[in-house]
Amino acid sequence: MTGESRFLLACQGQAHDTVPVWFMRQAGRYQESYRALRTRYSMLELARSPRLMRDVTVSPVEELGVDAAILFSDIMVPLAGLDIAFDIQENVGPVVAEPIRTAEQVAKIPAFRPDLVDYVYEGTALTVEALGAVPLIGFAGAPFTLASYLVEGRPSRTYRATKEMMWNNPAVFQALLDRLSTMVIEHLRRQAAAGAQALQVFDSWIGALSQADYAAAVLPHMKRIFGALKDLGVPLIYFGVGTQHLLPAMASTGASVIGVDWRTNLAEVRGALGSEVVLMGNLDPERLVAGLQAARAGAREIVTQMAGDPRYIFNLGHGVPKETHPQVLKELVGDVHEWGRLGEGSR
Ligand code: CP3
Repeated sequence: MTGESRFLLACQGQAHDTVPVWFMRQAGRYQESYRALRTRYSMLELARSPRLMRDVTVSPVEELGVDAAILFSDIMVPLAGLDIAFDIQENVGPVVAEPIRTAEQVAKIPAFRPDLVDYVYEGTALTVEALGAVPLIGFAGAPFTLASYLVEGRPSRTYRATKEMMWNNPAVFQALLDRLSTMVIEHLRRQAAAGAQALQVFDSWIGALSQADYAAAVLPHMKRIFGALKDLGVPLIYFGVGTQHLLPAMASTGASVIGVDWRTNLAEVRGALGSEVVLMGNLDPERLVAGLQAARAGAREIVTQMAGDPRYIFNLGHGVPKETHPQVLKELVGDVHEWGRLGEGSR
């Protein structure tokens, strides 16, 4: 890549040569290099070592030729700075030793200590140095999605205990989201200070909420978070799954880029949200597992619709599944870059 990053230019709606592409979960178990490291280290050991974090973050850039890197970490990692004990279990996900259910537990959460997760910021700086011209996306989990793990204690399909707290103990739930929001702001500001050129907030499970519950219980926190990051001057990406009904509210938070899942037609989202917001997405990740033909067909349809839109970034509608063949991703990067040039005339 020469000159200024097409990913950053697209984030700012400025002219660039072709559609930028990166993949959520582009570092992970679908990679041979990652699986080899995992025979020696746990996921959290990788995420707590600045050097290993750097190597894992850089690997998909080298292997696939994507236009941006995302820091290798996890949304759970900064919770160590709140003295919350958790583990990440293979094929399960985050598990919290003592689920947070009571006012007393929320009141006892200490102020966020970024020094306890300094390895993230050290790793960020090392990674930025290693990436050279390729920009690094820092990230954090959104307060609702983090709270869902803290309250449930483990991954959930219904978010029953979380919703119960939201409706039956709104003051406790709001206090929890407030503490998490404060952590998210500080964690993201530190990553930007260490050199991250864009910041993404993952609200993966927010689609479980109705419009009314989102507006009442979550939206004010998201506005506070993006408001508190604005002065950094870096692109702010907000992503969730199953968010068709929430997109206008999500676009009102102050985020400059909205990540959209595969259920939604991007051209329709563009129509609904207007021309200012940058859109990112939204290939069905299962197409990657189905194979090159299915992946290319889906990607071609999306890029044909969006090429020529200066505020568009290709991505998946969610993360790369571990059963993905790396060659499929590599081919897609080339395809998107080639097809994306078709829109050049209209830029
Ligand atoms: O390449 C990247 O995208 C950066 C790394 C990254 C990871 N987690 C690494 C990881 C990022 C951005 C995340 C964010 C994350 N973590 C989210 C939001 C994004 C999303 O996918 O919705 C969520 C919900 C989590 C919580 C979490 N952590 C889950 C659900 C899992 C999967 C459990 C499993 O084994 O399938 C994890 C573990 C995890 N985080 C892995 C990776 C590469 C797999 C760990 C392993 O090596 O065993």
